[in-house]
Amino acid sequence: MTKLETEINRRRTFAIISHPDAGKTTLTEKFLLYGGAIAQAGVVKGKKNARAATSDWMEIEKQRGISVTSSVMQFQYEGFCINILDTPGHQDFSEDTYRTLMAADSAVMVIDAAKGVEAQTRKLFKVCRLRDIPIFTFINKMDREARDPFELCQELESELGIDTYAVNWPIGCGKEFQGVYDRTRRKIIHFTSNTNARAATATEIELDDPALGDLIGTSKRDQLADEIELLDGASCDFDLDRVRHGQLSPVFFGSALTNFGVEPFLEDFLRMTTAPLPRTAGDLLVDSFDENFSAFVFKIQANMNKAHRDRIAFLRVVSGRFDADKEVYHVQGGKKIKLSRPQQLMAAEREIIEEAYAGDIIGVFDPGIFSIGDTLCTPGRKFAFDPIPTFAPEHFNRVRPLDTMKRKQFLKGMEQIAQEGAIQIFKTPYSGMEEVIVGVVGTLQFDVLEYRLKNEYGVDLYSEGLPYEYLRWVHHDGDEPLKPENLTLPGDAMLVEDYKGNQLLLFASQWSIGWTADRNKQLTLAEFGGTRFV
Ligand code: G4P
Repeated sequence: MTKLETEINRRRTFAIISHPDAGKTTLTEKFLLYGGAIAQAGVVKGKKNARAATSDWMEIEKQRGISVTSSVMQFQYEGFCINILDTPGHQDFSEDTYRTLMAADSAVMVIDAAKGVEAQTRKLFKVCRLRDIPIFTFINKMDREARDPFELCQELESELGIDTYAVNWPIGCGKEFQGVYDRTRRKIIHFTSNTNARAATATEIELDDPALGDLIGTSKRDQLADEIELLDGASCDFDLDRVRHGQLSPVFFGSALTNFGVEPFLEDFLRMTTAPLPRTAGDLLVDSFDENFSAFVFKIQANMNKAHRDRIAFLRVVSGRFDADKEVYHVQGGKKIKLSRPQQLMAAEREIIEEAYAGDIIGVFDPGIFSIGDTLCTPGRKFAFDPIPTFAPEHFNRVRPLDTMKRKQFLKGMEQIAQEGAIQIFKTPYSGMEEVIVGVVGTLQFDVLEYRLKNEYGVDLYSEGLPYEYLRWVHHDGDEPLKPENLTLPGDAMLVEDYKGNQLLLFASQWSIGWTADRNKQLTLAEFGGTRFV
């Protein structure tokens, strides 16, 4: 194997999703601890630890107890180079989650064992389903009173519509949580201590070993034997192919807080996931092992560090090797560029890097040239990865600065935040009034907008709700932009434009969409917008 192949082969890139508080941060931290990437817990997102506040505007997350942004972390574990993509836990940011999933090859779904499938789990799972990526389930907090494991698996199947396969099975819960039965190796992993801040210490023992009764108690042993028999008889077979197509979710039980079951999970997970997967660019399938570099932008974030006022574009390297010294071709910009200050993120730290391989996520300084979905590749090649769809917003506000003298800062802030994909903004060139309309998928995004405009741009926002609930991208055959006078529109629809010059229609009801489509046969009304490409 060449060095390139070896490096790509050992990479694993996954996203981690959960309902808030299920333990996503704690689990991520444990992974990082095992990998030696951090020395102590509490540095990833410190509720207790102030050092972890990676930027000022993330204040809003802390105030609300939600995670608004997604971050990326890389660590090494037993020869693997692992990239974890954290996702926002709130449904209002599901579009951000979707983009993050575009950069991942699989997802880990963390479930609270006392609560089972929760509201956000359902929403986030739905987003995962849009891409059919493999989903691994970690049922967490087994050190507390938990629901019956059969019931939990049943709920995953009925509520989420995915088959499950329990890779391991818990022995007790709460204070009685003693270990897990590894169904592949047919062995019990009995946890003995978690005094070591890193992995829990454990002993292994066979199910039919006479010493097992002494170790976990005879009633627990008998119960386990019954449950395993039931499980072997009732559950579907393990089928790696179905796992890789997102049809079967391997389920693991454990406790991130006490480390119990975390390491066995990580090991099995790494064994079952694949090296970086290819991505499509029209008719072309770009293979990770192709030696030519290529990558796409899946996230843009400004002002992560208020002192620097910088803007970072996050890239998923799709193929080959990225070399910081070499120029790359930015397909949408039509230019050769040198990526400035390429960096990898480790929790709150950033590290400048010289090279990266397919599967890696890197952040680069963005002077305002990138859009979500943009392609970068080795000069001489020219293709564009399939665009990342834009979700249609469902809430619309008319906004302006409270202080009219601040219009310039207001427009700059709005445009930058819109370029990040955090909101969508529209102009109203046909209404006779120069207005700015903001569209969001979830209303919490309005709060983030207001907060950021004030904190980053010094602008107090006046915002007023509009009755629209639907947005459609308008396509027609002609080259000239449409004019409202050439359209037959109901009273509750409005023609607007986005900042790239695309025309769109806002509607207050589903009924108006049908009415408009009936009377304007020349139009196609699309539910998703794609980033435009060459
Ligand atoms: P999230 O990122 O999914 O939102 O969850 P996070 O890891 O922040 O965990 C939420 C709470 O649940 C935290 O407690 C955390 O310590 C606790 N927790 C996580 N995993 C386990 C587990 O396996 N067992 C138990 N018993 N608790 C767990 P907190 O009190 O909200 O925060 P903190 O003060 O402990 O940081």
